[in-house]
Amino acid sequence: MLRAALFLTACSAAALSPRQQPSAPNPSSDEVRPLVWGDLNFLHTTDTHGWLAGHLLENEFSGDWGDFVAFTESMRAIATSNDQDLLLIDTGDRHDGNGLSDATPVNGNLSLPIFCKVDYDVVTVGNHELYTGATALQEYNTVRTHFGDKYIVSNVEVLDNDEWRDLGAKYRLFQTANQNKTILAFGFLFNFEGNDKSYTRVTKVEDEIQKEWFQELLNNLDSVDYIVLAGHIPVRGWPEFRTILNAIRRVNPTIPVHMFGGHSHVRDYVIYDDNAVALQSGRYVETLGWASSNFTSDADADAESGASATFSRSYIDFNRRTMLQHCNCQLKSEKGQSITAEIAKIRSELELDTYLSYVPQTYYMDRAPYPSEDSIYSLLESVLQTLVSPKEVVAKGNTRFVFLNTGAVRFDLFKGPYTKDTTFILSPFRNKWFYIDDVPLEYAEQVLLLLNGYNKVLLQANSRFAGAHYLSDLKNADQSGVSMHAPTFGYVTEDDLDDMGDDTVHRAWLFYDVPNAIQSVTNRRTANTTLVFHNFMQYYILEALFLISESDGSQFEVKAHGGADITELVSDYFNTHNKHNEHHSR
Ligand SMILES: *[C@@H]1O[C@H](CO)[C@@H](O)[C@H](O)[C@H]1NC(C)=O
Ligand SMILES: *[C@@H]1O[C@H](CO)[C@@H](O)[C@H](O)[C@H]1NC(C)=O
Ligand SMILES: *[C@@H]1O[C@H](CO)[C@@H](O)[C@H](O)[C@H]1NC(C)=O
Ligand SMILES: *[C@@H]1O[C@H](CO)[C@@H](O)[C@H](O)[C@H]1NC(C)=O
Ligand SMILES: [Zn+2]
Repeated sequence: MLRAALFLTACSAAALSPRQQPSAPNPSSDEVRPLVWGDLNFLHTTDTHGWLAGHLLENEFSGDWGDFVAFTESMRAIATSNDQDLLLIDTGDRHDGNGLSDATPVNGNLSLPIFCKVDYDVVTVGNHELYTGATALQEYNTVRTHFGDKYIVSNVEVLDNDEWRDLGAKYRLFQTANQNKTILAFGFLFNFEGNDKSYTRVTKVEDEIQKEWFQELLNNLDSVDYIVLAGHIPVRGWPEFRTILNAIRRVNPTIPVHMFGGHSHVRDYVIYDDNAVALQSGRYVETLGWASSNFTSDADADAESGASATFSRSYIDFNRRTMLQHCNCQLKSEKGQSITAEIAKIRSELELDTYLSYVPQTYYMDRAPYPSEDSIYSLLESVLQTLVSPKEVVAKGNTRFVFLNTGAVRFDLFKGPYTKDTTFILSPFRNKWFYIDDVPLEYAEQVLLLLNGYNKVLLQANSRFAGAHYLSDLKNADQSGVSMHAPTFGYVTEDDLDDMGDDTVHRAWLFYDVPNAIQSVTNRRTANTTLVFHNFMQYYILEALFLISESDGSQFEVKAHGGADITELVSDYFNTHNKHNEHHSR
């Protein structure tokens, strides 16, 4: 109630006529910093993973794809009226993570057409588009067909009717609509190796840029005003962007280069040199990245630094309130409204709101320490106890170790109804359980230590620590809980510029380190144990056992275990648990 009251005083309620999904909550009333515009402006999305309906349980991210489309229309109109340009960019990973994309028999079948309603200028591919040949061909046949030469994939090929073809255009050379600037755009995927190799080929970035098509472009940069280097690549700590930039810099030391990255799901901004910067715009439709540049005319150019452009960036919280403020408009758009309605219709057809159980409190992946009451991994340690083993395993009566890689969980679990949608949000991977019997207890007890020494298990997970630092000290601590104007918690991103890039002024969320894997041990007694794990972890478990047993491991036989997947286990757990605790309140 307090939030609602504050909200009404801070912002005119009339302006917020709801467009976002009907059950979405209203955003906070925290201060919103204005965007800095320039000659050339960008809106950037990445790692949307199907979240086109927005976040129905988190008020700061409650805008939906219809709101976004309306916003882009208004922002384009503002740019045009000021004789500036606005380009829209997406850097991949469009499914695996939300019911809207994953609840259809063919993943992305209904969500991709919605995604395509944004009038993007540059769209590239993520690793999640390449895990199976089917999704890669779906990209080729639908997303590429829709965007045409704006679908840019510089280093990936797909097998189409027995012929290897470029997944998208290798680059795009175009003029901007208003200032008639010449833009050269690329779309690279990081050096990904987990793709379906029968149907897709990823060429390493360092090899692709040796090829003639790229070298020829480098030799003709004189007519280019600005390079847009889109990539499904983290902007910090990964070598790929640097490799491409170095190649450009060898032939042109000052041409402006703006990189737009993704993959590690963080907000981040890296200054590579005086004329090259990189923006990464988070994940899951929480963040709308904003970037802008002014061209520096020769007269103002600083001869020494050779600055050819200026740069600015913001991370917009994805909700109607921030959008309304930035466009100073009504966000009224028929197209936007029809997209919102279509999303609601698909959600209802897919029965995503189907109630399965009730989550009595919020559990976090890395916004709570592990172990703790609020940690989703601590919760899962209890939940995994309820996994039912096959008769022959139970009959042996061995101590059971269930292992889970923390990357199997993709998002926090919010207090509220646990729905069909939640199952896809919690874990889109429908992993199966496997087991190894009669592993000596002294071996079993060492497995987790080894797993947590490996970095690999978690590479595709959620490591926010690969990116910008999120401030770990509470900003405005003196205001906390006392002042009526204390901001709510949210992203406070410390990047290469400063800690003021987040458009909404929040108190900083804290982020904690989490291990690669956890274990849930029952019945610790017997000399022999049974190890249970997901197919995804099999390689690492066996690797650990080889090391521990100092053998070739042939004595460890992997068998199918069966049993409910973690999304069912969690739902059943709450149904049982809530009955006990009378917490249940629908
Ligand atoms: C969705 O499925 C239909 C029917 O199989 C197919 O024609 C269409 O191309 C698919 N669209 C996408 C985006 O997968
Ligand atoms: C836009 O720029 C291109 C390349 O510099 C030039 O050829 C073309 O004439 C320009 N068009 C307009 C309308 O000024
Ligand atoms: C571009 O120039 C305008 C006018 O001087 C200024 O207000 C704006 O901050 C500049 N934007 C960037 C990105 O430098
Ligand atoms: C432990 O497993 C080994 C290998 O299957 C077996 O030979 C041994 O008898 C088992 N020990 C116990 C105490 O069950
Ligand atoms: Zn992703």
